[in-house]
Amino acid sequence: MLVYRMLRPILFRIDPEAAHHLTMAALSRAPWAAGLAAGKVQEHPSLHQSLWGLSFAHPVGLAAGLDKNALAIPALFRCGFSFIEVGTVTPRPQPGNPKPRLFRLPADEALINRMGFNNDGATAVAGRVRRWTGLGVIGVNLGKNKGTPNERAHDDYLALVNVFAPMADYLVINVSSPNTPGLRDLQTQEHLLPLVQAVSAARDRVAPPERRPPLLVKLSPDLADADLQSLAIALAQSGVDGLIATNTTITRPALATPGVQEAGGLSGRPLRQRATEVVRLLYRATGGRLPIIGSGGVISADDAYEKIRAGASLVQVYTGFIYRGPRLVQEMVDGLAERLARDGFSHIREAVGADHRRR
Ligand SMILES: Cc1cc2nc3c(=O)[nH]c(=O)nc-3n(C[C@H](O)[C@H](O)[C@H](O)COP(=O)(O)O)c2cc1C
Repeated sequence: MLVYRMLRPILFRIDPEAAHHLTMAALSRAPWAAGLAAGKVQEHPSLHQSLWGLSFAHPVGLAAGLDKNALAIPALFRCGFSFIEVGTVTPRPQPGNPKPRLFRLPADEALINRMGFNNDGATAVAGRVRRWTGLGVIGVNLGKNKGTPNERAHDDYLALVNVFAPMADYLVINVSSPNTPGLRDLQTQEHLLPLVQAVSAARDRVAPPERRPPLLVKLSPDLADADLQSLAIALAQSGVDGLIATNTTITRPALATPGVQEAGGLSGRPLRQRATEVVRLLYRATGGRLPIIGSGGVISADDAYEKIRAGASLVQVYTGFIYRGPRLVQEMVDGLAERLARDGFSHIREAVGADHRRR
């Protein structure tokens, strides 16, 4: 933690987005520096899983949004993540919302962002992803351009699948970001099921059968429980391979940071509880048959373990990485192995959803 402990006060004095770009530029130029700051992540056979035919050394991955443009994949793998989700990528490049659009809430270990899918577009990002395939599990998170009306959203997702299905290890349909007007309206069964069907048919056409990337859907924590439940059942029947729970929230649980009025998606510590509730609900609704990636306020090994016991097979981190730095991955991985042993589990698969089997 030492390197990051020294760097963090400097980075936190700079505007959050400028600090982000500075860090990404440094990481893309000097991936070895990430390894130095992160230390070596120890292997624990009890944490190794095979899901969708992909091999995960442990369950801790990087959430979408940090490396939207696939600029620092080697460095991020050196931080120890077992998988990295790039994007959200849209078909055409777009600048996103006006700045400032990223805010730190240090007293809450939280962030608010309204980035609005700023990204280099499918062609540029695909060029970089292609270069790094084989380095580790790389997922690609797909979204529509701001200028594409919802009636034509299919065209955007299909264009993206054509580009990314041949190279991505998994694909994510993102209909849950709060910062693209109208995007979350696609989370109704009426819109989402035909979209999923069209996307999975396109994936099957484009990718060879032996290398077909699983298709996941990333959901919002702000949907009502009943809607999440019926959506999960319908998605499981529609052939989706997994769910990601959750994206950021537009609700504002009681916050410790004074005077926070910014609009956008809240992530980090204040999101943890609701995101875990959603994982629990989705696991119950699908009878544990659909792998879930838990995302939202995972900042410690305890947080990761909570998501796993609630039903997540894997977890993702974004905000925790900003506050705790790259050593976080190793701490989480060691901490998870300890917790499994403490609770008498010989393998992580026994812990996934364990809360549901408690008498
Ligand atoms: C600055 C920022 C940008 C994000 N961009 C995206 C994005 O482009 N696509 C997406 O699906 N999620 C995005 N997210 C959401 C994260 O992937 C994650 O689901 C969420 O932040 C909850 O995890 P956390 O509490 O560990 O941050 C973003 C989050 C942050 C903080």
